[in-house]
Amino acid sequence: MTTTAAAREGHIRIEGLTKRFGHFTAVQDLSFEVEPGRITGFLGPNGAGKTTTLRMLLGLIRPTSGSATIGGHRYADLPRPLATVGAALEATNFHPGRSGRDHLRVLADTASVPVTRVDELLELTGIPAAARKRAGGYSMGMRQRLGLAAALIGDPQVLVLDEPANGLDPEGIRWLRGFLRHLSDQGKTILVSSHLLREVEQTVDDVVIIANGQHVRSGTMVDLHGTPGAVVRTSDADALAGALRVADVTSTLQEDGSLVADTTDLRLVGDVALRAGLPVYGLEPKRADLEQLFFELTAGTNRNLGDGAETPPAEASSAGAPAGSPPAGPGPDGRPTTDDEGVTP
Ligand SMILES: Nc1ncnc2c1ncn2[C@@H]1O[C@H](COP(=O)(O)OP(=O)(O)OP(=O)(O)O)[C@@H](O)[C@H]1O
Ligand SMILES: [Mg+2]
Repeated sequence: MTTTAAAREGHIRIEGLTKRFGHFTAVQDLSFEVEPGRITGFLGPNGAGKTTTLRMLLGLIRPTSGSATIGGHRYADLPRPLATVGAALEATNFHPGRSGRDHLRVLADTASVPVTRVDELLELTGIPAAARKRAGGYSMGMRQRLGLAAALIGDPQVLVLDEPANGLDPEGIRWLRGFLRHLSDQGKTILVSSHLLREVEQTVDDVVIIANGQHVRSGTMVDLHGTPGAVVRTSDADALAGALRVADVTSTLQEDGSLVADTTDLRLVGDVALRAGLPVYGLEPKRADLEQLFFELTAGTNRNLGDGAETPPAEASSAGAPAGSPPAGPGPDGRPTTDDEGVTP
């Protein structure tokens, strides 16, 4: 990793981040980094601490300890917050009586960007017509798109999206995937949270997985998929394994009777089987069962589901939570307006 100022721009660094609500530790000693030009999935089951972490990153709640910085600055110290980071947190609420377009106009004004940017963004997020209607009547998917448009108003280098695929239909999810890729290709840093690995599997380059407020695993999606291989089914797996060995391909017999050959060359495996006079009942690239992997990494004991000793206290004044006050919580000057505990930073 280079440390020049230019390269650090857009670099997210979470270091030893901890957040306690009373006796309940929502996020515990969490550290990870997010690189520009890549899409990073921030994953964990419900209640894992994703939103809490993102809110600390965005300066909406104060960490108990540790730090979260963007380009080396805490959110509160960013010289031009709206031009640096755009965010859409979960449960984004827009004033019901105001049109989506007017919402964006207010934001454009705040961010000192030309109002023409509003229509540009509405086109980009695919809601130009809907945005003229009152936001109160928006579907979940339309709210997501409007939230995204709002996050992009200052053309930020960093985009932080909390569960952006929630409420989107398959077409919407596909659109979001292309849209985020387009932005990351421009060198932007994209951090998206999800409680479903499968949902972001085809979208993200890197993953950071947390459970019960703690880091579980991070790395590239390629690594998560594991070593590639070929899964082959035949009538006599031992015989095929022997034939593959002669062709310099090692393989492992699976419990279900299939053979996993250590090659991505499906044709080679098929040819070897043919030469050995063995029927091929199935031949496909090996795919990691990501759903199962995610489950193994994060399940076990979800503190929110069991009756463990560590019980979260009642939500502290969620009504005053700024997560959705248009659109990502920061006040008119781009600074957070309130703190969960009612403390003004
Ligand atoms: N203001 C608060 N007061 C008390 N506990 C809180 C508060 N905010 C979050 N928590 C608790 O912290 C834990 C993490 O919550 P968080 O919202 O960060 O999870 P999440 O990973 O975003 O989950 P989801 O996938 O459901 O959105 C939960 O147990 C939650 O109840
Ligand atoms: Mg959440």
